[in-house]
Amino acid sequence: VTLGDQTFQRGAGGETHQTASGDIETLTTQVGTPVADDQNSLRGGQRGPTLVEDQHFREKIFHFDHERIPERVVHARGFGAHGYFETYESLADITRADIFQRPDEKTELFVRFSTVAGNKGSADVARDVRGFAVKFYTRQGNWDLVGNNIPVFFIQDAIKFPDLIHAAKAEPDSDFPQAQTAHDNFWDFISLTPESMNMALWIMSDRTIPRSFRFMEGFGVHTFRMINAEGKSSFVKFHWKPKQGLQSVAWNEAVKLNGADPDFHRRDLWTAIKSGDFPEWELGLQVFDEKFADEFEFDVLDPTKIIPEEQVPIRIVGRMVLDRCVDNFFAETEQVAFQTGNIVPGIDFTNDPLLQGRNFSYLDTQLSRLGSTNFNHLPVNAPRCPFHHFQQDGHMAFHNPKGRANYEPNSWGAEGGPRENPETGFASHPEELEGPKGRYRSETFADHYSQARQFYLSQTEVEQGHIGDAFIFELSKVEKLAIRERMVAHLLNVDADLAETVGKGLRLKTMPKAADAARPTVTGLKPSPKL
Ligand code: HEM
Repeated sequence: VTLGDQTFQRGAGGETHQTASGDIETLTTQVGTPVADDQNSLRGGQRGPTLVEDQHFREKIFHFDHERIPERVVHARGFGAHGYFETYESLADITRADIFQRPDEKTELFVRFSTVAGNKGSADVARDVRGFAVKFYTRQGNWDLVGNNIPVFFIQDAIKFPDLIHAAKAEPDSDFPQAQTAHDNFWDFISLTPESMNMALWIMSDRTIPRSFRFMEGFGVHTFRMINAEGKSSFVKFHWKPKQGLQSVAWNEAVKLNGADPDFHRRDLWTAIKSGDFPEWELGLQVFDEKFADEFEFDVLDPTKIIPEEQVPIRIVGRMVLDRCVDNFFAETEQVAFQTGNIVPGIDFTNDPLLQGRNFSYLDTQLSRLGSTNFNHLPVNAPRCPFHHFQQDGHMAFHNPKGRANYEPNSWGAEGGPRENPETGFASHPEELEGPKGRYRSETFADHYSQARQFYLSQTEVEQGHIGDAFIFELSKVEKLAIRERMVAHLLNVDADLAETVGKGLRLKTMPKAADAARPTVTGLKPSPKL
């Protein structure tokens, strides 16, 4: 039978064969051998066993058996798209980063939005922080701005990240809850980690139930540096402002959406782009100098704090347009490897201890997740500018050095491969460092409540109501009373009315005393003498 340009044939057993004809390509094995029959394995007789010599069958099953790779240890569920960044003006005054030199220039990029705590198969509209990771394929290498849709973070030092994530993800014995819905371990950790209070207010706000990825802001969170051609350093905070506006759903909508369509956010982005309604964000910078940093009432290296826009206005410098869906989810969205360490000349790190730890973590985890030191050879990760280095071999290497030399210095002249370039190459900002080695708990990071209060008071009455409701809903799922009380004790340092609303909502018999702001980490536990 021929239907359109497809030909169907009935096999001897009544099965349907679809055969190549016209423009329809011939099915092949991995090495290109044309396949005659993809329905029936090779057997010894009509009712006999399958033969090991059936190479096509073995290759097909072998490959299928190994399709899964580990999901990301965090941000496992995500959705990506291609697009471009367009500069509005030259930023040569503050950075020599090539991407920011010329007005109206376009640079290709890839974005992956994600939830943090849920596994790869979890629901899109869970109450959770959203990842907002952008890979710019610049002419001087890939620059990854690996941010979130919340401008602050839970912890100040990367050494606590495994604990935060263990507490936020499924509990080790029961393996539930899967997403960041309320549970004892999560709130236990938060209530014992006062530095997370600003973030706690943000995550109980409507920001963590966005209407879709298209209606979210994005933030680089940390303070970074920009360095201009004269070597002058400025501090910078990165912001993404959605042209679509900022919108969230209400909690009862989120719960229904998660049941009715767990793919709600990915479907929204896919459909918008496929129908030509390309989402856009503007990139904004808060630029400030050492003098501002010294005078600012918080430490600019503390990732649990924002710099209010009233104090440092945002300079809008360009726009990002997402205009192309992926051709293959696994090859692109799943295998993309963002790294905070991927920066380009003209941009540099600061000593934010969370950022410094992230720089180690991403490279490390991606070896485990992608299985080879050569994951940057994958098309979605490879730079789009020329690149030359002497790294070689390893699993799946297909960009090995060409020619005679794979080392330097060498005396092979022009045939000896690439050489370092002090003029165009990346150079770290020569910041002066001093002081004794030690594990410090910085005094300048110690105020955990003022910005939480500032955030709460900046919300409308309706939004404040949502925050109170969210705390009551989430904490009412916590079984251990002491954890509920500890959270209300923190809220007393944020806003007395909010604390009272939550305390009443949780039907606490007596209100706890406010947490001791001067002694932030109080577990009340002493190590056992047996240890
Ligand atoms: C993944 C953001 C803190 C470790 C991600 C992703 C985002 C992100 C957006 C998903 C990337 C993707 O789509 O592939 C952030 C932000 C942080 C933060 C904004 C704080 C400001 C940390 C810290 C660590 C960490 C402190 C560890 C010390 C990881 C790891 C992954 C990840 C291991 C998985 C990467 C992969 O498998 O490719 N993070 N993160 N993150 N993050 Fe973070």
